[in-house]
Amino acid sequence: MFFKLFVVSLLTFLRILHVSGCDFKCTDKPVFNPSRLVVRHGDPASAICTVCEHACKPITHDSVIGLEVSVGETTTNGTKISWKVDNITEWKSAPKCYYSLTNDHCCSSLALTIYQPPDSVSISYVNHSGPVLEGHQYTLQCIVQDVAPVESLAVTFYRGQAALGPPQSKNNTEKTPVTEIFTLNINPSREHDGLQYWCEAKLDLGPEGPQGPEGPHVVKSNNLTASVHYLAHENQAASLYLISITAGDTLQLNCSAMGNPSPSYSWTLPKAPSPSSASVLTIDSVDFDHEGQYICVASNNLGNITVMFNVDVQVDLLPIIAGLAAAAVAVIMGISCFVYTSHYRHTRTGHYRLKDVFRLRRSTHVAVPNGVD
Ligand SMILES: *[C@@H]1O[C@H](CO)[C@@H](O)[C@H](O)[C@H]1NC(C)=O
Ligand SMILES: *[C@@H]1O[C@H](CO)[C@@H](O)[C@H](O)[C@H]1NC(C)=O
Repeated sequence: MFFKLFVVSLLTFLRILHVSGCDFKCTDKPVFNPSRLVVRHGDPASAICTVCEHACKPITHDSVIGLEVSVGETTTNGTKISWKVDNITEWKSAPKCYYSLTNDHCCSSLALTIYQPPDSVSISYVNHSGPVLEGHQYTLQCIVQDVAPVESLAVTFYRGQAALGPPQSKNNTEKTPVTEIFTLNINPSREHDGLQYWCEAKLDLGPEGPQGPEGPHVVKSNNLTASVHYLAHENQAASLYLISITAGDTLQLNCSAMGNPSPSYSWTLPKAPSPSSASVLTIDSVDFDHEGQYICVASNNLGNITVMFNVDVQVDLLPIIAGLAAAAVAVIMGISCFVYTSHYRHTRTGHYRLKDVFRLRRSTHVAVPNGVD
């Protein structure tokens, strides 16, 4: 009894020795069918190993063939050994099929991949929450929980429907499920406001992997809505505008800034602050009292933008020109009348002599009595 046990133990020991001293490069290796097996953790699996298809035939009584497995059952039928397991609950079981002749230990392993799609995929900012500011850099992280094998995992970040860079993967050969964090730096701009950031974890297990309409195993994250805050004036360069306007015209000062949240406005007029909180200040009929400096401050939680307008009110020259023109016309008409009248008198009553008029006026002047002398 004891001897029998000892022999069995010895044989087992020798087998293990054989397997561990395996030659994986021998010609005519045992052949698995299928040659590669991709199984989801917990699913059933089966394969058949054919030992000694050509070179080692015939199998003799001193040859040993076998299939070393850590789970499931094996059934030997001639040179074929089948392996079957109802549900794979291990992560590293790679069945090894072998035969041993006197000086020849030939082995092959089943290429077995046991996978588990991620339990969850989530996206968030690293060390940040809430709105982001334009012009600042942030880091997105995609956390993939409990996935195996992680080396088959590729993670892609998206904004809306646009992929942000090539898929990322990790150099990690761990076969059991692991949690990995993938990161991506982003520079939000105002066009990204309202768009969704998300990431996608794809477990690409090759042609033997799960196929069907859904393709490789893909798990999408939650959506992270970008709320991008900013404040800007359309014309960044000019914050002082020189405005020349004619009295009586309508003055319109446009302080509109672009911002999220929408900016609020406050105005200081040349003489006093104004109750106006509109982006455009309108004065219907400008007069000289409206001349001076107008200051508008557009602000939101990001800060302030100050826009200044120097308003110069000019005299309306049109009525003056019109008046001058009218006066000129009147003068010309007056002269014409005078010339016409003189000419008419001359032709009708003879020559009118200016010289005589002067003489007459002078003599009259001399004739005025002087009361003092
Ligand atoms: C996040 O913030 C913590 C403490 O505020 C810091 O220790 C950590 O390094 C930060 N992580 C990153 C990725 O910046
Ligand atoms: C004010 O300026 C903004 C931006 O330059 C423009 O979109 C808007 O139409 C302007 N408003 C008026 C009343 O001119």
